[in-house]
Amino acid sequence: MPALAPRQGVAVTLPGPADFTAWRQAARGLVAADIRPEQAEWVVAGELPGLLAEAPAPPPSGAPFSVPRAFLDQAEIAIRHSDPERFALLYGLLWRLVHGERHLMQAATDPAVIRLGALAKAVRRDAHKMHAFVRFREVQAEDGPRHIAWFEPDHHIEEAEADFFLRRFAALRWSIVTPRRSVSWDGTALQFGPGGRRADVPPDGAPGDRYEPLWRAYYASIFNPARLKPGAMRAEMPRKYWRNLPEAAEIPRLMAEAPRRVAEMMERAAAAPNPRPQLARYLAPGQLSAPPHVVRDMPTPIDPPTDSTLALAALREELLSRPDLPDFAARATQPVFGEGPVGARLMFVGEQPGDEEDIAGRPFVGPAGRLLDRALAQAGVDRREAYLTNAVKHFKYTPTGKRRIHQSPDAGDITYYRPFLAREVAAVAPRLVVSLGASALTALTGKKLPVLKTRGQVVTALGGQPVFATIHPSYLLRLPDQQAQADGFAAFVADLRAASEQA
Ligand code: URA
Repeated sequence: MPALAPRQGVAVTLPGPADFTAWRQAARGLVAADIRPEQAEWVVAGELPGLLAEAPAPPPSGAPFSVPRAFLDQAEIAIRHSDPERFALLYGLLWRLVHGERHLMQAATDPAVIRLGALAKAVRRDAHKMHAFVRFREVQAEDGPRHIAWFEPDHHIEEAEADFFLRRFAALRWSIVTPRRSVSWDGTALQFGPGGRRADVPPDGAPGDRYEPLWRAYYASIFNPARLKPGAMRAEMPRKYWRNLPEAAEIPRLMAEAPRRVAEMMERAAAAPNPRPQLARYLAPGQLSAPPHVVRDMPTPIDPPTDSTLALAALREELLSRPDLPDFAARATQPVFGEGPVGARLMFVGEQPGDEEDIAGRPFVGPAGRLLDRALAQAGVDRREAYLTNAVKHFKYTPTGKRRIHQSPDAGDITYYRPFLAREVAAVAPRLVVSLGASALTALTGKKLPVLKTRGQVVTALGGQPVFATIHPSYLLRLPDQQAQADGFAAFVADLRAASEQA
């Protein structure tokens, strides 16, 4: 290529707005031809070129060079950003990396490095929102049902994220339409096409959309008025997504009703024999506040609600309104439901929520839960992919001064909650249930099996599901010395690993 005059520019036309391979190849050619960042103009095919372009970009040539992995990893994500300056930013950084600033990526205060990080972060956030807020509507096509979703990403993430939806919904035929792109899966191949309009996608409540009422019912059932934090909720679920979320129609009503529902909870709490100090601490009269936990109730489930999701929602509803709950349930802050994905490979069943679980409204977040987390991590089990629940859904305790001392559930309590657990196991349909401790084993099997003799074995639940028996993690907390605890922990990890291998 003839040498360019110092002010002469070259035009690089990329085939797509987020084509990292093409950008990389072109950038190599530019570096090899010694074209400075300010001489290069980056254009996406089909978009208008600017004024600088005078000569086409040189083909890649010259000696190969390498750049740090950290740059490539960030660049591959940042190129999906919608900032029109992104290609130039990347080329500017590349130029500096190969011209004496090899450690540039470690310069945490360099404005271009900071900008690169900010672009990559925005793209990751956009992808996370897409995973969480794509809602499919089912339409009946001539050749059977199709699932169609409308989504408006901020950045060019459609192609990169298509794989995520393919992994989750390989068995369905689906399309995701965005203003710039459409992605479709027909059961055999992914196809990308031009963007569309919102009107191309059936609206909420369109005839035959069976997901809309399911989403609404599901959302209403998981909405916890005592944990409502409007600021955190808006951060997690920004308003711009609401119009595409069927369940968003429920939000104004649920928010408006929240103060009344909390006041009722407070009244019930005050009328109970023991006025739960922790709840009073978190919910001062008249104050609509929440425990200092991130609001985790906001829906980020991804799958279209299924009959199983609805069955779980119905369980929650029932547990919130049953007139015949055992006495101790009235003293608990709230029922603690299971959490985790429907269809999880592994389902862990504990005894009952403890003090911290009762306040947080989530299973296994107290001392035993933290121990379980550590053991799961060591056994190579990702807690987020498992379903965790308890045999008994309310915290049973003896009030002593300011403390609430855990009281084991008796046979009657276990029997009372058994149908709920059985329905939960059936809805989640795990490959293997893991019983943690004696109460869970009894609740699942209907038999009083000795835990230490049964641990490591697979027995059968009343519903026919396989149950792997092991100890409860709190058993380890009660062991007398450090050595016994270390040995006990190692054996527990071995059990969890064995269960995971069998699931
Ligand atoms: N112990 C349990 O059995 N379950 C919990 O959720 C917490 C402690």
